[in-house]
Amino acid sequence: MPLKPLVAYELDRPFSDQQPRHSLDSDDSHAVDELDPLRDSKRPYRDNASHSLRSIFHSEKHALLGSPPRRSSRRWSRLRFCCYLFFLVIVTIFLLLSAGGLWVYKAGASHDGESEPWYPSPRGGTVQLWSRSYRRAAELVGQMTLVEKVNITTGTGWSMGLCVGNTGPVDRLGFPSLCLQDGPLGLRFVDNATALPAGITIAASWNKQLMYDRGRAQGLEARLKGINVILGPSVGPLGRLPAGGRNWEGFSADPVLAGTAAARTIHGIQSQSVMATIKHFVGNEQEHFRQSWEWGTPNALSSNIDDRTLHELYAWPFAEAIRAGVASVMCSYNQVNNSYACQNSKLMNGIFKDELGFQGFVQSDWLAQRSGVASALAGLDMSMPGDGLGWQDGKSLWGSELTKAVLNSSVPVERLDDMVLRIVAAWYQHGQGDDRRWPNTTLGGGPNFSSWTNDEVGNLHPGSPDSKDTSIVNKYVPVRQTAEGGNHDALARRIATEGIVLVKNEGGILPIPRSANGLATKAKDGKLRVGIFGEDAYPNPKGNNACPDRGCNEGTLAMGWGSGAVELPYLVSPAEALHEEFDNATVQVTDWKTNSVRKVDGTAAAQDLCLVFINSDAGEGFIRWKTVMGDRNDLLPQKGGDELVREVAANCGGRTEGGEAVSDTIVVLHTVGPTVLERWIDLPGVMGVLIAHLPGQESGNALTDVLFGDYNPSGRLPYTIGKSEDDYGLDSKILTFPNGATPQQNFTEGLYVDYRYFDKHNITPRYEFGYGLSYTTFKLSGLFIHPLSVVNTSLPAPRSYSDDAVPPHMDPRVPDPEAAVWPQGMRRLAKYVYPYIDDVESAKPNGKYDYPKGYDHYHKSTEAGGGEGGNPDLFTTAASLQLSLTNTGEVVGEAVVQIYVSLPSTTLDVISNLTVALDTPVRQLRAFEKVLVEPGSRSQVRFSLSRKDVSYWDVRVQKWVVPTGELRVCAGFSSRDVRQCGSFELVGGGGWS
Ligand code: BGC
Repeated sequence: MPLKPLVAYELDRPFSDQQPRHSLDSDDSHAVDELDPLRDSKRPYRDNASHSLRSIFHSEKHALLGSPPRRSSRRWSRLRFCCYLFFLVIVTIFLLLSAGGLWVYKAGASHDGESEPWYPSPRGGTVQLWSRSYRRAAELVGQMTLVEKVNITTGTGWSMGLCVGNTGPVDRLGFPSLCLQDGPLGLRFVDNATALPAGITIAASWNKQLMYDRGRAQGLEARLKGINVILGPSVGPLGRLPAGGRNWEGFSADPVLAGTAAARTIHGIQSQSVMATIKHFVGNEQEHFRQSWEWGTPNALSSNIDDRTLHELYAWPFAEAIRAGVASVMCSYNQVNNSYACQNSKLMNGIFKDELGFQGFVQSDWLAQRSGVASALAGLDMSMPGDGLGWQDGKSLWGSELTKAVLNSSVPVERLDDMVLRIVAAWYQHGQGDDRRWPNTTLGGGPNFSSWTNDEVGNLHPGSPDSKDTSIVNKYVPVRQTAEGGNHDALARRIATEGIVLVKNEGGILPIPRSANGLATKAKDGKLRVGIFGEDAYPNPKGNNACPDRGCNEGTLAMGWGSGAVELPYLVSPAEALHEEFDNATVQVTDWKTNSVRKVDGTAAAQDLCLVFINSDAGEGFIRWKTVMGDRNDLLPQKGGDELVREVAANCGGRTEGGEAVSDTIVVLHTVGPTVLERWIDLPGVMGVLIAHLPGQESGNALTDVLFGDYNPSGRLPYTIGKSEDDYGLDSKILTFPNGATPQQNFTEGLYVDYRYFDKHNITPRYEFGYGLSYTTFKLSGLFIHPLSVVNTSLPAPRSYSDDAVPPHMDPRVPDPEAAVWPQGMRRLAKYVYPYIDDVESAKPNGKYDYPKGYDHYHKSTEAGGGEGGNPDLFTTAASLQLSLTNTGEVVGEAVVQIYVSLPSTTLDVISNLTVALDTPVRQLRAFEKVLVEPGSRSQVRFSLSRKDVSYWDVRVQKWVVPTGELRVCAGFSSRDVRQCGSFELVGGGGWS
């Protein structure tokens, strides 16, 4: 700001030479100087400059003394020279700029042809389970006009309704505006709803029932708040880059754990007649450059993923979500193989709708849609939030543009009908057409909260500068504890408790007692001294929700930031719970509320037990906290956490033995993902370490459950903790500087992310995937493997089209354009997105539409498809397993039994019938169960492996293939702690079955 008046002053006086020179020294310039903090350093420079200019004139004058100056001609030639110089400079600048522009344009343009074209878009209604919903949808959609259909496909614009996404309604036929709301851990911008633990926390619990219960709680709360579609769960990012800003919203870097968690969550959400959205498809593995211009590059980053890696890693959890019947999928911001995910026909038409048999609708991420017709043809069904290339620009790429595109036949009527049928069928499929379960808007349904205000009365369309429409928007409906859903606060606590992973427990320091209980203390009063150290133990002094979308790291960390965060209804901080739980009569608790290490040694030395709290935060790229721009800058604890642990551990208790500090320090880490602990993990004073992930509102209560041994820790790491960030591999770092106008990120490590990378390169992690301690011990024995005949054929049964349902027949004729023109006298809100056209003329073809390459080629259905999630035969049991789990310790506990498979390293090639090498991970998780066992008891645990579990994706035959050779199956307690192994022969038939 201070420099502004100076600029304005200079620009206001372009002909300053004609101004009296003294104007620079006039009052104006004083005013400028007063505003200019640099004035003292600037003034001498200005003086020097004028001085040197004067001396040039002087020396010139001396040189000219010999001959009488021909003043006017000299002046002309000097002027001409100046003009040439000026002209040259301008031309050079112009050329440089154009060259730069050309480079940006060329380099910014997408590389053509790197993603296979896949047209036409497969129609929904081909799966028997959905056929009734499609029939009902066809009846309704058959009565709709063109604009009514378009209204359903297009959002009304950012903050043009009460939810983060709002579609247009068809009031005439009782089809409501749909409310779409984030997100993966609860309900964003919603009052009185539960702030559940994040995706990474539920994944760390490895508890399938809890995954379902968490989803069910979200679904019920959503229905009670009038939300039709939840924008979650998330399985993309998967976690390819350990520092990725949004990994915590999803579950795990392992596709089976992520896929299982997603499927259970979806079953839970949809059991409440609320539609779930699996997101973001696909390759949105980092925040930097995820969107065009957001990070300064004209195009979004391209995630370049090969076919096999896409199938075996990134698409796997999406396939599981579709198998679970998910209603919607969200395509991501980034490009995939240099084609925007939301107009990538291979991904949406080919993989999602054909191969994986998706029957619901594809919605764009918010502003991820980059084209109108092309995205429609590539399989996008819903434009969110409906705006065009910019927020609230009122220039939707669909809306009236889609109406025109259908009228001038650029988009076939059949494609529009399919979009609408998919949305309406999903609505019926999840019981939203049932007025008793889902009272529609005319019966008082619809959202009963506003995303944009906490006041009771508010604007219905706050995004429009014209809107003065106010109404009661917040009804403050309580949803956390209901007769229908039970107590969600208690559920949140249970999930947070089970999501805590105990990674170090030296000398069995944990659990700790609540009272001194005769424990040694040097304090004269005999009270045990306990110190709580670190900002992360205490609430944010400014309030739990002080930072919008939790976009800062202040106080204890309950969740990451961005659209995946929610308002905390309350937050039980660790310090609060600890104060509450310790027996005040025998224990004295001391608070150290900051991360400052100044003089912490004295306070630490006065304690018998030290609890240190540290954290590491990240979030969505539209918010930046300090230097963290969404993605983490590194994998270390933030805000000086390492130093705090080191200092406390070195001084706690003030005791040394043999020159080494001996202390009882327990570290609690709240974190968004893999965090490097090397700066202190091996210090002798660090006796216990708990990784409490992102616990949500019940943080402190969950922690004390584990600390005091009320609950035996059962969390296991859903990722690997390496000894350094480099250990995750060369390609595991965030791309922070663009390597082109379209940043390119090649997924060259292929299948080898997280533990697969560590295993392949024989790198010893600090704590491996699946690792976690318990207060008891377990034993596995008697693994019995029973292979079934499936393993005798390499390929799944051919796709059976006879079992397919038939998509409904709709009238394919282009409707009358007159009916799409703005109705007379209708009030229009500025920037609001409508489906109407101005006049019939505007819908006439305007030149030839340049269809995407390959649009004229009819792509055949793939044999790999045939049902929701892929060819149904992929899910036929290939082997069943059984083994015994014994609790060999003293207390009841839950073990997570994990099944890893290792495919043979060579196989008989299905095409050539020759033996070829098979590049495959050392081991891959394929199944898991969490089992509770009483001390001294034994439990039988059963698993089954499907055909897909024992197959690899063959890129040449475009199918899942069971290899030939020995399949090794191991059962264990982590990816590196396998206890029981067995193997059997995969005899694969070779060739087509
Ligand atoms: C996020 C989505 C979210 C949407 C709506 C986008 O920025 O990427 O995950 O659902 O906003 O809030």
